[in-house]
Amino acid sequence: MVIIIQISDLHYGSEFEDSYFNNVIDYIKQNKHDVVVLTGDIVHKGRYRQYQRFSAYLQKLKDASKRLLVVPGNHCAKNNGLIFFEKFIAPRRSKMILEDRDTIIVGVCSAKDDVSTGEIGDEQLDWLGNQFVENLENRVIAMHHHAIAVPYSGRKQTTLVDAGELIEFTQLFGIDLVLMGHKHIPHAYVIGPTTFLYCGTSTSNKVRADEGPSFNHIWLNEGDLEVQMVNSTTLQRSLLLERKNNRTKFVRPRRTRIEHLINSKVWDD
Ligand SMILES: [Fe+2]
Repeated sequence: MVIIIQISDLHYGSEFEDSYFNNVIDYIKQNKHDVVVLTGDIVHKGRYRQYQRFSAYLQKLKDASKRLLVVPGNHCAKNNGLIFFEKFIAPRRSKMILEDRDTIIVGVCSAKDDVSTGEIGDEQLDWLGNQFVENLENRVIAMHHHAIAVPYSGRKQTTLVDAGELIEFTQLFGIDLVLMGHKHIPHAYVIGPTTFLYCGTSTSNKVRADEGPSFNHIWLNEGDLEVQMVNSTTLQRSLLLERKNNRTKFVRPRRTRIEHLINSKVWDD
């Protein structure tokens, strides 16, 4: 069993709320976890001063977390910010092996300088394949961009341009969980053995539709999975997804764009 707390899209520098950040820190300190995974958009504009000012917050996060793995988002890469991401935050790709938890987590950089679109790229896919040669039970990928578009998350085409390659990779390598941020929508899809899990914005007011700021608390054990979504303002939990014996028992219902269109009056004559 590995316990992960996923936080995402902090957006320091724009609509960032100190109170939400402090709540997240309190929750991490008070709840059992093996690792905290931060899936990008740490700063809003990728500028040196934003990264520099975020350093004090990063230290608090490191102090609260048992372990911390961070990947960059498209906002981290704005204004050529990836060089400062590497200077102040972490390498742009990283691997964490938790032998006592039979777990491997690999973080990849889906962000590119100055564009919102995501891409893993052939070289990184090759590198990713070489990381998952380890025979560990719980297999997790962390990245920022969406592999699959999520309803009600905007119409900009910023999913991975090579989403097909990434999805096929997850099936070939038996990946249990792909952690993503990007559009600030808590959501999940399941394909084969793989759960594609999306996180809300954890510390900002950049929310979409009727979502609040949130993060995910995850229990993964040999394919069985429970995800609790935690509201960053109240720290109340609600079940997002439950999987047992390769069957999805629960996925949080969302009023999706499709449901909205079907149920709305706009089509009536
Ligand atoms: Fe974001």
